[in-house]
Amino acid sequence: MDDPLDIANDLAQRIRWEVENGVSGYERKKSPAAAADAPAEQTIDKKAALAALRQELGDCERCGLHKGRTKIVFGAGNPSARLVFVGEGPGQQEDESGIPFVGRAGELLNKIINAIGLDRDDVYICNVVKCRPPNNRDPLPEETGMCGPFMKRQLEIISPEVVVCLGRPSAQYVLDTSRPIGKLRGHFHDVDGMKVMPTFHPAYLLRNESAKRPVWEDMKMVRDALGLRERGPR
Ligand code: URA
Repeated sequence: MDDPLDIANDLAQRIRWEVENGVSGYERKKSPAAAADAPAEQTIDKKAALAALRQELGDCERCGLHKGRTKIVFGAGNPSARLVFVGEGPGQQEDESGIPFVGRAGELLNKIINAIGLDRDDVYICNVVKCRPPNNRDPLPEETGMCGPFMKRQLEIISPEVVVCLGRPSAQYVLDTSRPIGKLRGHFHDVDGMKVMPTFHPAYLLRNESAKRPVWEDMKMVRDALGLRERGPR
Protein backbone atom coordinates (compact mmCIF):
# COMPACT_ATOMS: atom_id res chain seq x y z
CA MET A 1 0.00 0.00 0.00
CA ASP A 2 2.19 2.85 -1.30
CA ASP A 3 -0.48 5.40 -2.12
CA PRO A 4 -0.06 8.31 0.39
CA LEU A 5 -3.85 8.68 0.58
CA ASP A 6 -4.21 5.00 1.55
CA ILE A 7 -1.49 5.41 4.15
CA ALA A 8 -3.15 8.55 5.59
CA ASN A 9 -6.56 6.86 5.63
CA ASP A 10 -5.11 3.79 7.29
CA LEU A 11 -3.41 5.98 9.89
CA ALA A 12 -6.63 7.87 10.61
CA GLN A 13 -8.54 4.57 10.96
CA ARG A 14 -5.87 3.20 13.31
CA ILE A 15 -5.99 6.33 15.48
CA ARG A 16 -9.79 6.13 15.69
CA TRP A 17 -9.61 2.43 16.63
CA GLU A 18 -6.93 3.07 19.28
CA VAL A 19 -8.84 5.98 20.83
CA GLU A 20 -12.04 3.89 20.92
CA ASN A 21 -10.16 1.02 22.52
CA GLY A 22 -8.51 3.08 25.23
CA VAL A 23 -4.94 3.03 23.92
CA SER A 24 -2.96 5.59 25.90
CA GLY A 25 -1.09 8.52 24.39
CA TYR A 26 -4.16 10.36 23.13
CA GLU A 27 -5.17 11.86 26.49
CA ARG A 28 -6.09 15.51 26.70
CA LYS A 29 -3.22 17.74 27.79
CA LYS A 30 -3.25 19.46 31.17
CA SER A 31 -0.64 22.17 30.58
CA PRO A 32 -1.82 25.77 30.56
CA ALA A 33 0.22 26.44 27.41
CA ALA A 34 -1.77 26.27 24.18
CA ALA A 35 -0.44 23.01 22.78
CA ALA A 36 3.20 23.48 23.52
CA ASP A 37 3.64 20.11 25.20
CA ALA A 38 1.80 18.03 22.60
CA PRO A 39 4.14 15.16 21.71
CA ALA A 40 5.42 15.68 18.17
CA GLU A 41 4.17 12.25 17.00
CA GLN A 42 0.68 13.05 18.28
CA THR A 43 0.60 16.30 16.31
CA ILE A 44 1.83 14.50 13.18
CA ASP A 45 -0.83 11.80 13.59
CA LYS A 46 -3.58 14.38 14.00
CA LYS A 47 -2.28 16.34 11.04
CA ALA A 48 -2.32 13.16 8.93
CA ALA A 49 -5.82 12.27 10.13
CA LEU A 50 -7.08 15.76 9.23
CA ALA A 51 -5.39 15.49 5.83
CA ALA A 52 -7.09 12.12 5.26
CA LEU A 53 -10.44 13.63 6.21
CA ARG A 54 -9.85 16.52 3.80
CA GLN A 55 -9.10 13.96 1.07
CA GLU A 56 -12.30 12.11 1.91
CA LEU A 57 -14.29 15.35 1.57
CA GLY A 58 -12.72 15.70 -1.87
CA ASP A 59 -14.21 18.04 -4.46
CA CYS A 60 -17.49 17.77 -2.57
CA GLU A 61 -20.87 17.89 -4.31
CA ARG A 62 -22.89 16.33 -1.48
CA CYS A 63 -25.22 19.35 -1.21
CA GLY A 64 -26.26 22.31 -3.35
CA LEU A 65 -23.77 24.72 -1.76
CA HIS A 66 -21.01 23.44 -4.05
CA LYS A 67 -22.68 25.18 -7.01
CA GLY A 68 -21.83 28.66 -5.73
CA ARG A 69 -18.48 28.08 -4.11
CA THR A 70 -15.04 29.24 -5.15
CA LYS A 71 -13.06 27.24 -2.57
CA ILE A 72 -13.91 24.69 0.09
CA VAL A 73 -13.04 26.14 3.51
CA PHE A 74 -12.05 23.01 5.42
CA GLY A 75 -10.48 24.50 8.54
CA ALA A 76 -7.13 25.84 9.69
CA GLY A 77 -4.89 25.88 12.71
CA ASN A 78 -3.16 23.67 15.21
CA PRO A 79 -4.09 19.95 14.92
CA SER A 80 -3.24 19.58 18.64
CA ALA A 81 -5.22 22.64 19.71
CA ARG A 82 -6.80 22.61 23.14
CA LEU A 83 -9.38 25.09 21.87
CA VAL A 84 -11.44 24.89 18.66
CA PHE A 85 -13.76 27.59 17.30
CA VAL A 86 -16.68 26.50 15.13
CA GLY A 87 -18.47 29.07 12.97
CA GLU A 88 -21.48 28.49 10.76
CA GLY A 89 -20.07 28.74 7.24
CA PRO A 90 -17.65 30.69 5.08
CA GLY A 91 -18.38 34.26 3.98
CA GLN A 92 -17.21 35.90 0.78
CA GLN A 93 -13.56 36.43 1.75
CA GLU A 94 -13.31 32.94 3.17
CA ASP A 95 -14.84 31.50 -0.02
CA GLU A 96 -12.22 33.35 -2.08
CA SER A 97 -9.23 32.49 0.13
CA GLY A 98 -10.18 29.01 1.38
CA ILE A 99 -9.30 30.11 4.94
CA PRO A 100 -11.89 30.45 7.75
CA PHE A 101 -12.54 33.78 9.46
CA VAL A 102 -10.33 36.10 7.43
CA GLY A 103 -12.83 38.95 6.94
CA ARG A 104 -13.85 41.62 9.45
CA ALA A 105 -15.43 39.03 11.73
CA GLY A 106 -12.15 37.11 11.53
CA GLU A 107 -10.14 40.16 12.61
CA LEU A 108 -12.38 40.48 15.64
CA LEU A 109 -12.04 36.76 16.34
CA ASN A 110 -8.24 37.16 16.29
CA LYS A 111 -8.57 39.90 18.94
CA ILE A 112 -10.79 37.68 21.07
CA ILE A 113 -8.23 34.86 20.81
CA ASN A 114 -5.41 37.24 21.77
CA ALA A 115 -7.44 38.56 24.71
CA ILE A 116 -7.44 35.12 26.37
CA GLY A 117 -3.69 34.79 25.99
CA LEU A 118 -3.48 32.79 22.76
CA ASP A 119 -2.47 33.39 19.17
CA ARG A 120 -4.49 32.27 16.17
CA ASP A 121 -1.87 29.60 15.43
CA ASP A 122 -2.54 28.01 18.82
CA VAL A 123 -6.18 27.22 18.08
CA TYR A 124 -8.08 25.43 15.31
CA ILE A 125 -10.90 27.19 13.43
CA CYS A 126 -13.54 25.58 11.24
CA ASN A 127 -17.20 25.86 10.27
CA VAL A 128 -20.23 23.58 10.30
CA VAL A 129 -20.54 23.86 6.50
CA LYS A 130 -17.45 24.10 4.30
CA CYS A 131 -18.96 26.03 1.36
CA ARG A 132 -20.37 29.54 1.39
CA PRO A 133 -24.18 29.75 1.69
CA PRO A 134 -25.62 32.21 -0.87
CA ASN A 135 -25.78 35.78 0.49
CA ASN A 136 -24.41 34.49 3.79
CA ARG A 137 -27.75 32.96 4.76
CA ASP A 138 -27.87 30.39 7.55
CA PRO A 139 -27.03 26.88 6.34
CA LEU A 140 -30.12 24.74 5.72
CA PRO A 141 -30.70 21.48 7.65
CA GLU A 142 -29.92 19.38 4.55
CA GLU A 143 -26.60 21.24 4.20
CA THR A 144 -25.59 20.88 7.86
CA GLY A 145 -26.78 17.26 7.69
CA MET A 146 -24.32 16.50 4.88
CA CYS A 147 -21.39 18.64 5.97
CA GLY A 148 -21.69 18.76 9.76
CA PRO A 149 -20.42 15.18 10.26
CA PHE A 150 -17.08 16.29 8.74
CA MET A 151 -16.83 19.03 11.38
CA LYS A 152 -17.67 16.48 14.08
CA ARG A 153 -14.86 14.26 12.83
CA GLN A 154 -12.48 17.24 12.92
CA LEU A 155 -13.39 17.60 16.60
CA GLU A 156 -12.91 13.86 17.19
CA ILE A 157 -9.42 13.98 15.65
CA ILE A 158 -8.28 17.16 17.39
CA SER A 159 -10.01 16.19 20.62
CA PRO A 160 -9.84 19.67 22.15
CA GLU A 161 -10.68 20.39 25.76
CA VAL A 162 -12.89 23.32 24.84
CA VAL A 163 -15.02 24.14 21.78
CA VAL A 164 -16.44 27.63 21.26
CA CYS A 165 -19.50 27.70 18.99
CA LEU A 166 -19.74 31.06 17.28
CA GLY A 167 -23.37 31.99 16.74
CA ARG A 168 -26.72 30.26 16.79
CA PRO A 169 -26.42 27.88 13.80
CA SER A 170 -23.14 26.47 15.08
CA ALA A 171 -24.34 26.17 18.69
CA GLN A 172 -27.65 24.57 17.71
CA TYR A 173 -25.96 22.06 15.41
CA VAL A 174 -23.20 21.07 17.85
CA LEU A 175 -25.62 20.82 20.78
CA ASP A 176 -28.42 19.30 18.68
CA THR A 177 -31.00 21.72 20.01
CA SER A 178 -33.30 24.47 18.78
CA ARG A 179 -32.90 26.62 21.93
CA PRO A 180 -31.92 30.25 21.26
CA ILE A 181 -28.28 31.28 21.56
CA GLY A 182 -29.15 33.68 24.41
CA LYS A 183 -30.24 30.69 26.49
CA LEU A 184 -27.35 28.45 25.44
CA ARG A 185 -24.46 30.85 26.07
CA GLY A 186 -22.98 31.67 29.47
CA HIS A 187 -22.15 28.13 30.57
CA PHE A 188 -20.40 25.01 29.34
CA HIS A 189 -22.24 22.07 27.82
CA ASP A 190 -20.64 18.63 27.84
CA VAL A 191 -20.38 17.00 24.40
CA ASP A 192 -18.42 13.74 24.32
CA GLY A 193 -16.13 14.97 27.11
CA MET A 194 -15.49 18.35 25.47
CA LYS A 195 -16.57 21.56 27.16
CA VAL A 196 -18.69 23.44 24.64
CA MET A 197 -19.24 27.17 25.11
CA PRO A 198 -21.75 28.80 22.76
CA THR A 199 -21.34 32.53 22.33
CA PHE A 200 -22.40 35.31 19.97
CA HIS A 201 -20.86 35.36 16.49
CA PRO A 202 -18.15 38.04 15.93
CA ALA A 203 -20.18 39.38 12.96
CA TYR A 204 -23.06 39.99 15.39
CA LEU A 205 -20.65 41.74 17.75
CA LEU A 206 -19.64 44.09 14.94
CA ARG A 207 -23.26 45.21 14.70
CA ASN A 208 -24.16 45.04 18.40
CA GLU A 209 -21.75 46.71 20.78
CA SER A 210 -23.85 45.51 23.73
CA ALA A 211 -23.00 41.87 22.96
CA LYS A 212 -19.31 42.46 23.77
CA ARG A 213 -19.76 42.10 27.51
CA PRO A 214 -21.51 38.69 27.40
CA VAL A 215 -18.94 37.41 24.88
CA TRP A 216 -16.12 38.50 27.18
CA GLU A 217 -17.86 36.77 30.11
CA ASP A 218 -18.04 33.57 28.02
CA MET A 219 -14.42 33.88 26.92
CA LYS A 220 -13.22 34.41 30.51
CA MET A 221 -14.80 31.06 31.37
CA VAL A 222 -12.99 29.51 28.40
CA ARG A 223 -9.71 31.11 29.49
CA ASP A 224 -10.13 29.82 33.04
CA ALA A 225 -11.11 26.32 31.90
CA LEU A 226 -7.84 26.19 29.94
CA GLY A 227 -5.82 27.65 32.81
CA LEU A 228 -4.73 30.59 30.64
CA ARG A 229 -3.93 34.10 31.70
CA GLU A 230 -5.42 37.25 30.26
CA ARG A 231 -2.98 39.00 27.96
CA GLY A 232 -2.18 42.65 28.61
CA PRO A 233 -2.03 45.31 25.87
CA ARG A 234 0.39 44.40 23.05
N1 URA B 1 -18.44 33.52 9.50
C1 URA B 1 -18.39 32.20 9.78
O1 URA B 1 -19.27 31.66 10.44
N2 URA B 1 -17.33 31.54 9.35
C2 URA B 1 -16.33 32.09 8.65
O2 URA B 1 -15.39 31.39 8.29
C3 URA B 1 -16.42 33.48 8.38
C4 URA B 1 -17.48 34.16 8.82
